[in-house]
Formats: sequence, C-alpha cells, structure tokens
Amino acid sequence: MALLSVNSVEVVYDQVALAVKGVSIEVPEAGLVALLGANGAGKSTILKAISGLLAPERGAVSRGTISFAGEDILRLDPPTRVRRGIVHVLEGRKVFEHLTPAENLMAATTMHKDRAMVAQMIDHMLDLFPRLATRAKAKAGYLSGGEQQMLAIARALMTKPKLLLLDEPSLGLAPLLVDEIFDIITRINREQGVAVLLVEQNAVAALDVVQHAYLIEQGRIVMSGTADLLRENPDIKEAYLGGGTTQVDYHAVKHYRRRKRWLA
Ligand SMILES: Nc1ncnc2c1ncn2[C@@H]1O[C@H](COP(=O)(O)OP(=O)(O)O)[C@@H](O)[C@H]1O
Ligand SMILES: [Mg+2]
Repeated sequence: MALLSVNSVEVVYDQVALAVKGVSIEVPEAGLVALLGANGAGKSTILKAISGLLAPERGAVSRGTISFAGEDILRLDPPTRVRRGIVHVLEGRKVFEHLTPAENLMAATTMHKDRAMVAQMIDHMLDLFPRLATRAKAKAGYLSGGEQQMLAIARALMTKPKLLLLDEPSLGLAPLLVDEIFDIITRINREQGVAVLLVEQNAVAALDVVQHAYLIEQGRIVMSGTADLLRENPDIKEAYLGGGTTQVDYHAVKHYRRRKRWLA
C-alpha cells in the first residue's frame, strides 16, 4: 500500500474553473517522487488538495479520493493532516522575516511542550542546514533566497512529518544552491525516511534525485514512470531537458504537445 494515494482527483476553483482533472498519484512509504510541469499546469493545486489548503482560495476537491496511510483524509482539516504527518512547504518560501532562524523553528512547534526536545530538534536542524547555523543572529528577512528556502524546509521538518510536500524549492536559485537544496532533500529522504512529493518546473534537477516522476499538463497527468524512463523519453528531452538548460523552452513544449498523441 502506498503512503499517499491520490485517486482520480478533480479540483475546481470558484465552483466552476476545473484546474485538476482526474489526477492519480502515488507516493510510497519513504519514496521520493516528482510532479513536473510548466507554470499553471496544476501542480500547486494538487499539493493544496493533499494538505487541505484549497478552501481559503475557494477551491475544492469535487471528485476522487485522497488517502494517507490507508485513511481517507479529505474530510480532515489542515492541522489534523499535519498531525497525521503531512507537511506542505508553500511556494515562495514564506518565513517569519522578523525572527531569527532558531525563532522561526521554534514557532513551528507550538504542539511540542517539551522544551528540551524542541531545543534538541532545533540543534538537529542547524546540523542538517549548516548555512542556517552560520546565520543564527540574522533576521530571516535578511537571509538569501536559498537560505530562506532551507529555513522553510527545516521549519516543516519540526513537525516530524512522514510526507513532505515541496512546492518549487529551486525557483529563482542559482544552480549551485539548487544542487545544495536537492542534496539536502535527498538526505532527509534517505536518512530520516521522510517521503517527499517534489513539485518542480526544473525537470533536470528533479529527475536527478527522484525515483519516480509524473508530468502534468493543463490539469492532467500526461506521462509517468521511473526517473530514468522520463529522462530518456525523446519528447521530455526535447521539451524539458533541451540544450542542457533548466529553462522550459515553450516553443518546444508546443511542438511536444502536437506530437504527444502516442504517449496516451
Ligand atoms: N485561487 C485560485 N482561484 C482560481 N484559479 C486558480 C487559483 N489558483 C490557481 N488557479 C488556476 O488553476 C490552474 C493551476 O494553477 P496552479 O496549481 O497554481 O499551477 P502550477 O502550480 O502548476 O503553476 C491555473 O489555471 C490557475 O490559474
Ligand atoms: Mg505552483
């Protein structure tokens, strides 16, 4: 049984706009899986359906089911889903700008009353993210984009999740930092057994670290398979991995759409 199982899920915004259409995704226990696709494809919407954050945006799951560790979670509110072990790092690395890294981490742990344990977890996070330790006195608003991303991930880990949902952690980061972030994600997955669903436009970096990937276009999964399989797929190469750059070539994507009929 998969840890997370998204089954034929449909999401509507404002009761009319269908953003996600019949999407099925599985993340195994301790798995590392990517959801790839261009801007506007529906990636963030799927993560919000899983963590329960659609309601504030007037979105709702209108069909399908989502189960986590065998339990149907669609009726659970977001804090309950966090307690079950699902944590969502939102796009845009939202940290508390006026707090230091350690204070940011502490703010994530209102549910743990044990101060010694919280202190130990914070130490552990600063070991895992040495860059944050070197910026211990700085307010988070003054950290670089990469450091803020690390802090956002560390804060999520303070909830001791079984599943980490990451929304475009590499967005806007220099290539070296992208490598560093992806290294850390791999370590969290391998060393702590935390399952990860990684949303990315950066297919090059993501396919290097994940075991399995799904490709979404206009709200539908159009391809899925092992990372090797997707990396070797000629259409993926052309549309998403072309020229060794990490930029999506939109002309190539159009071309790919014309040719993809045989992929279905
Ligand atoms: N709060 C919202 N209200 C209405 N439509 C939305 C909202 N958020 C996203 N959408 C629409 O849903 C589709 C998928 O968006 P999103 O999930 O953010 O894509 P991605 O994360 O892949 O860039 C887009 O067409 C977008 O315009
Ligand atoms: Mg998004």
